[in-house]
Amino acid sequence: MPAIRLLPELLINQIAAGEVIERPASALKELLENSLDAGATDIAVQLESGGIKLLRLRDNGRGIDHDELKFALMRHATSKISSLDDLQNVASMGFRGEALASMAAVAQLTLTSRTADADHASQISAQDGHLSDASPASHPIGTTVEIRELYFNTPARRKFLKTEATEYAYCEEVFKRIALSRPDVAFSLQHNGRTIWQLSSGQDALKRVTMLLGAEFGNAAVAVSRQAANLSLKGFAALPAYSKSSRDAQYFFVNGRFVRDKVASHALRLAYQDILHHQRHPAFALFLTMPPAGVDVNVHPAKSEVRFRESQGIHQFIFHTLQQALAIPAQSTPSASAQPAPFNSMQHSLGIAQSNAAYQVWEMQAGQGQIPAMGATAERSGWQMGSGENTPDSPLNTHHAPDIPPLGYALAQLLGIYILAQNARGLIVVDMHAAHERIVYEKLKASLDAEHIATQALLIPVSFHADTLDIASVEAGQEALKKLGFDIAPLSPTTLAVRAMPVMLKQSEAEAVARVVIGELREFGASRVLTERRNELLSTLACHGAVRANRILSVTEMNALLREMEQTERSGQCNHGRPTWFQLSLNELDKMFMRGQ
Ligand SMILES: Nc1ncnc2c1ncn2[C@@H]1O[C@H](COP(=O)(O)OP(=O)(O)OP(=O)(O)O)[C@@H](O)[C@H]1O
Ligand SMILES: [Mg+2]
Repeated sequence: MPAIRLLPELLINQIAAGEVIERPASALKELLENSLDAGATDIAVQLESGGIKLLRLRDNGRGIDHDELKFALMRHATSKISSLDDLQNVASMGFRGEALASMAAVAQLTLTSRTADADHASQISAQDGHLSDASPASHPIGTTVEIRELYFNTPARRKFLKTEATEYAYCEEVFKRIALSRPDVAFSLQHNGRTIWQLSSGQDALKRVTMLLGAEFGNAAVAVSRQAANLSLKGFAALPAYSKSSRDAQYFFVNGRFVRDKVASHALRLAYQDILHHQRHPAFALFLTMPPAGVDVNVHPAKSEVRFRESQGIHQFIFHTLQQALAIPAQSTPSASAQPAPFNSMQHSLGIAQSNAAYQVWEMQAGQGQIPAMGATAERSGWQMGSGENTPDSPLNTHHAPDIPPLGYALAQLLGIYILAQNARGLIVVDMHAAHERIVYEKLKASLDAEHIATQALLIPVSFHADTLDIASVEAGQEALKKLGFDIAPLSPTTLAVRAMPVMLKQSEAEAVARVVIGELREFGASRVLTERRNELLSTLACHGAVRANRILSVTEMNALLREMEQTERSGQCNHGRPTWFQLSLNELDKMFMRGQ
C-alpha cells in the first residue's frame, strides 16, 4: 500500500470540480449567481460551441478589489459567509467559496474586475492551477469572467460532454431559470455570435415569464400570490389546458434559487390532481420565499436541492395555495384591473401582484383579446344560427341588455353530445356530459363536506341480487352510506334494496350507483371510502349522475347548465382533466369563410 499523503491543491480542485462543474451549464449557473450576489443589474453572456470552447460573462456588479482577486480563485475563500450562523441564514446564492476555484482547475480562466473606488481594473488568470499576478486592465465597474476550453486538462471528463447543441441547450435552460427569477435584472445571451435572448431590466414578472416560457403559457397562467406568517408563494401556474407531456415547464424557486424538491413537487402534483389528466404534467413558475433559517441549502455541492426544516407545513402551504388558485369557475368577463400590476425588485421578496385570475381563464379559453363591446355584437347580429327557438333568455332578446353571460346563451344541441351557445365573442361549444359531470362532482364534494347530501326516497325501492360480502359491507357501512346520501338495506340474505339516493344522482340508475358505492365499501372499508377514496368515488358517481349523450335538452335546460358552469369551480375541465368547452370566435369563423380577406 502506498503511504497516505495530502493531495496536491490542483487535484483537490479538480476532484471538487467533478461535483460542482459537471458541464458548461453548471459553470454558467455559478457565474450568473456570482453576478447576482454582486448586485449586478445587467448581465451579458457569450458562449461559443455550447460553452465548451468559450463561456464569457460580463456584469456591472460591485466588482472585486485588486488585492482580493487571487482569493476569488482560491478554494474555501468567500466573501459571503464567515461563521456557522451565517451559513444557517445564508441569503446569497453562493457560500461555499469553491466555484471559481473549481473552474480554474479544469479550464483556462481569466478574471477581470473593477470596483467603484479603483481607478482602473485588474486582471488575473489561471492555467493548470497556476495563478498569474494581478495586472492592470481596462474594464468598467463590474466583472468579466472568461472560461476557455472547459475540461481541456481532464480528457476523461471532457469525453462525457455531449454535442455542442446539447450542451448549449443545457446552458440556455440555466440562463432561463435565472432570468425568470430576476425580472428586475437585464440579461442577454449570445451563442456563436448570435443573440438569442435580450431581456431588459425592470420587467414585470408576467412579461418576463411570458417572454421566457412563451405567450401560450402566459395566457394560460393564473397568478398565484399568498402570504402566511413568514411564508410567501408567488408566481404563475398554468391551467390544465396548457399542460405538458413532460416536466420541462416546471420552475420552482426557493428564496430565488431554482431547486428540484420532492416536497414541493408532491404538493404541486396533488394540487393539480383533481383537474389534470394523469398523463399530463402541470406547468408553472413559482417562487417560495421564507426565512433562510427554515431551509438548508447546503445539501448538495451544486445547491440544486434543499431541505426544509418543517417540510409538512411547507407542503400544506404550497398545496392549499395552488389548489385555491386553480379552482376557478368558467366565468367572469375581464375587468379593467385584469393584468397583474408590474412589480419592482424581486431581490428578496417576489412581490408579484395578484391578478384577476378569472381573466386569465378567459384568455385561455377564449384566445387573445377582450370581449368586444355589445355594439359590435349587435352589428353582426345577422349572424344567428337560429335554433328555431326564441326563448325569453335567448340572444335575440338581449341585444340591448348590458351583459351577455360569459358562456352565452344556448342555441342548439349538436348530435346529442355538444351544446352550442352564442356569447359576445362568437360560438361556444360545450361537451355536455363532461361539463355536467364536473358540476355534479363539485356539488357532491361540497355537500359531503357540509355533511348534507340531499337524498330522495325512491317511490319503489330498487332491489338487486347481492352476495354475502356485499350484504356484510352494507351493514357495516350504514353510517358512511347515510353520509353519502344513500339508504341501502338487505331485503333477504341474497337481496339488497336501494330505498333512497342522492338527489343529484337522480338521473342515474339506482342499481348501478349502489353497486359502485358497495364495491368501494367492500374493497376499502367505510372509513377509507370517506377519506382517501372519497374523491375517486364521488368522481365515479358524478359520471353516473351526469347527463348522458343523446339526451335531448331543452334550451332552458342548456342555459341552466351554462349558468351552473359559470358558478362551478374547476368547471373548465371534466373530472378527468379534459376540457369541457371552448370558444370559436367570430374572427376565427370569419377566417374559415375567408370573410374580409
Ligand atoms: N461577478 C462577481 N462580482 C463580484 N465578486 C465576485 C464575482 N464572482 C465572484 N466574486 C467573489 O469571488 C468569491 C469567490 O466566488 P466563488 O463563486 O468561487 O465562491 P462563492 O460564490 O463565495 O461560493 P460558491 O462556491 O458557493 O459559489 C465570492 O465570494 C465573491 O466575493
Ligand atoms: Mg459563487
